Amino acid sequence: MNRIFLIGYMGSGKTTVGKLLAARLGYGFIDMDAHIEEKLFKSVSQIFAELGEEKFRLLEQQSLHEVAEFDHVVISTGGGAPCYFDNMDYMNKQGMTVYLKLSPDELAERLESSHANKRPLLANRKGEELKQFISEALAKREPFYSKAAHAVSGEIESTVSQICILTGIKKPEWDNED
Ligand code: S3P
Repeated sequence: MNRIFLIGYMGSGKTTVGKLLAARLGYGFIDMDAHIEEKLFKSVSQIFAELGEEKFRLLEQQSLHEVAEFDHVVISTGGGAPCYFDNMDYMNKQGMTVYLKLSPDELAERLESSHANKRPLLANRKGEELKQFISEALAKREPFYSKAAHAVSGEIESTVSQICILTGIKKPEWDNED
């Protein structure tokens, strides 16, 4: 197994966990949203505003197919990626999928302070309205997320450790950091 896909709702920590996990395993790290932004020279918000969500989902699928060819990588996917086309089945074929599972309350708490400008689907939502929106969206997405090979919960450091154990990959010998 040399490709790990992190999936989960916005704010679940995919990027933070992905970077730490990649460093721990001696793998490369790819953030799919960043990959799309670099290709188009536009932010995700700009892509949503100028081209629309439908076009974003097509670009997302295309990027997924590009990055899923790399080896020894941790790939952090956009929160919606598993829920469109056959993306979830595709990821399950291409590598090990891990769902970072958080409750709507935990996600709302994390997203309340961090989502401004970056996440077009959450723009202008706050407090109870944000919580309600996340609950409803998660209920719709759960059938896709639950197709992941593994689900992990908890704080960042414990999540990274749990995934390391799941992979069974030993840290490279040349890396003696801890
Ligand atoms: C989205 C999640 C975002 C980004 C876009 C849409 C979603 O990625 O792809 O704003 O539909 O959940 P993150 O989960 O990395 O925030």
